[in-house]
Amino acid sequence: MSRQKYLIGNWKMNNTIAKTEQFLLNFEKQLNTSKTTVVIAPSFVSLSSASKVLKSDRVKLGAQNIAWEDSGAFTGEISGEMLKECKVTFCIVGHSERRQYFGESDETVNKRIKACLRQGINPVLCVGETLYERQHNMTNQTIKRQLQGAFDSIASQQAEKCIVAYEPVWAIGTGMSANEAQAGQVAGQIRDCLSVLYPSLYGQEIGQKICILYGGSANTKNASLFLNCADIDGLLVGGASLFVDDFLQLAHICESV
Ligand code: 13P
Repeated sequence: MSRQKYLIGNWKMNNTIAKTEQFLLNFEKQLNTSKTTVVIAPSFVSLSSASKVLKSDRVKLGAQNIAWEDSGAFTGEISGEMLKECKVTFCIVGHSERRQYFGESDETVNKRIKACLRQGINPVLCVGETLYERQHNMTNQTIKRQLQGAFDSIASQQAEKCIVAYEPVWAIGTGMSANEAQAGQVAGQIRDCLSVLYPSLYGQEIGQKICILYGGSANTKNASLFLNCADIDGLLVGGASLFVDDFLQLAHICESV
């Protein structure tokens, strides 16, 4: 994959099946994008009907998680094959809420990325530091650890299919986004770190090819600040993706920057 614009909505545990259908009908009708890949990640239970409601390829479907096994006795898990059946082409992996509340570790993140890649689903890997880590100058080491863990024993041709989202934990759902300097600096660090992990592929380092998104209280007011950063290719949006008008406006901003 080469660098391109992305707008990804992470709906988290919001919207019923009926509300998802209503949103998608309304949103798809009005969406007018040509260079931004727009993805919505609703809840698992909405994916099947969402895949039927969508009429075109303009809105792509994402999942919020994936099992690392392909099938079997894993109660409560959703496999990559099941996601593929619902036309899922992207999957968020390692979101901080999963790391914080559901025991997600760098090791399980790595296994989930491998499960995505086996199915041809593009992983959207989330990395980011806590407020404590930022205040104690540990941001760089946290990001490096998360990247090293996530990409462990993943070949370069596979790694380039991943998208990395920088989501500082302290900025998620707080209304206190990072500023563009902070976001741009860490996005640059992510590129550097990946270039060290994958020194050279076809003469160009993965760090320069991979798409990096910013997430954490991104909205219609601050979106262009992030999108103007040299190393940021798009946005991973929570709260503001739940409103048709806001998400349409964000898509419009992505197109115009
Ligand atoms: P908010 O945009 O609500 O801060 O959420 C960001 C996020 O966690 C997206 O994955």
